[in-house]
Amino acid sequence: METYKIAVIAGDGVGPEVIGEAVRVLERAAALDGSFAFSFTHFPWGCEYYLKTGRMMPENGMEILKDFDAILLGAVGYPGVPDHISLRGLLLEIRHGFDQYVNLRPVRLLKGAPCPLAGRGPEDIRMTFVRENTEGEYAGSGAWLYQGRPEEVVIQDSVFSRRGTERVIRYAYELARKEGRTLTSVSKANALNYSMVFWDQIFKEVGEEYPDVETHSLLVDAAAMFMVKDPARFQIVVTSNLFGDILTDLGAAIAGGMGLAAGANLNPERTWPSMFEPIHGSAPDIAGKGIADPLASIWTAAQMLDFFGHEDWGAKVVDAIESLLSDKDRLTPDLGGRASTEECGKALADLLG
Ligand code: IPM
Ligand code: MN
Repeated sequence: METYKIAVIAGDGVGPEVIGEAVRVLERAAALDGSFAFSFTHFPWGCEYYLKTGRMMPENGMEILKDFDAILLGAVGYPGVPDHISLRGLLLEIRHGFDQYVNLRPVRLLKGAPCPLAGRGPEDIRMTFVRENTEGEYAGSGAWLYQGRPEEVVIQDSVFSRRGTERVIRYAYELARKEGRTLTSVSKANALNYSMVFWDQIFKEVGEEYPDVETHSLLVDAAAMFMVKDPARFQIVVTSNLFGDILTDLGAAIAGGMGLAAGANLNPERTWPSMFEPIHGSAPDIAGKGIADPLASIWTAAQMLDFFGHEDWGAKVVDAIESLLSDKDRLTPDLGGRASTEECGKALADLLG
C-alpha cells in the first residue's frame, strides 16, 4: 500500500482550524479507498514560532521538508509580525525553494455557491488559472537606497527568464490540450515593454508546438473586465505571478468567495514536494472561533488527491463540496449557514461514504 508522507504546516490564525478538516477528508478518502494512506507530520511553524525564535521556520526547515511527498499549509501571517517578513520567511521561501513554479487555482462556480454576477451560473464560470509562481514580480530582486532620506529610491525588479516563462506556459498548453479547452494568456505588453513583450513572444513560440490548442491573448486590465462581464470566455488561463495573484482573488469573488478558493503550488517534475494551500489568509478577526470555512482547504486536499493520481477521489471530494452547498445547515456563516468549521468538515467527510 502506498503511504504519502505529508508535512502539515497549519500556520497562523484560522490555519489550524481549516487544515484539521482537510486532514479529516484526506484520511476518510484513503480509508474508503483502501489502496493508499497518509502519514501526517505536524510542524508548529508560523508567526508564533517567529515571536519565540526569530524565525518563521528553523534554519534547516527546507531540509526537513524536502523528504515529504507534499506539504499541506493553512495560512501564514498575523498581526505583530510584518507580512513581508512572515511570508518571505515561510510561504514564499517554500514556493521558490522547492521550485513550485505552477500555482494551479480552480475558479469554478459550484452549484449552490453564491455569485455576485447577475445572470451567471456554474456553466459560465469554470476556469483554471495557471499562475507563474517563482519569478516575475515576486522574484524578490531590487534595492532600497538612501533609506529615510529625501533622495530615497526603491526598485522592485520583475524577473522573467526564458526557462521560467517557457515552462509555465508549456504546462498551461499541456493542460489545455489534455482537457481539450482553450488557453488564454494574460499580459500587459502595451505598457511593460520588456517583460510582457517577452511573455507574449514566448506564448506564441511555445504555441507553435500546440496547433490543436485554441488560444487568446488579453491585456490584464481587459481580462479583469471580462472576468466580470463575460467570464465564460475563459477556460485555461496562464499569467504572471502578480497578475495571477490579483485575478485569482477576483476569481474567488465570482466563484463563491474566499471560503471556497483553493490552490496548489506544484513542482511538476516532482523533484521537490508540492504545497497545497487555500488562497485565503489567516483571518485574525475570526480565528479561534471555530467558524472559518474549511471548504477551501478541503478543495485543496482534492487537488492533492489529483496530484497523487487519485483523480477519482479528487472529483468525489469536489462533488461532495457541491452537494454540501445545497444544505445551509451544514455550512459556515460566510456561506449563510450556522455550522462550525468542524461540523462542516465532518458533514463533508460523511458525504464521501
Ligand atoms: C496568495 C497570497 C500570497 C501571494 C501572499 C500572502 C504573499 O496573496 O497566495 O495569493 O501574493 O502569492
Ligand atoms: Mn493572493
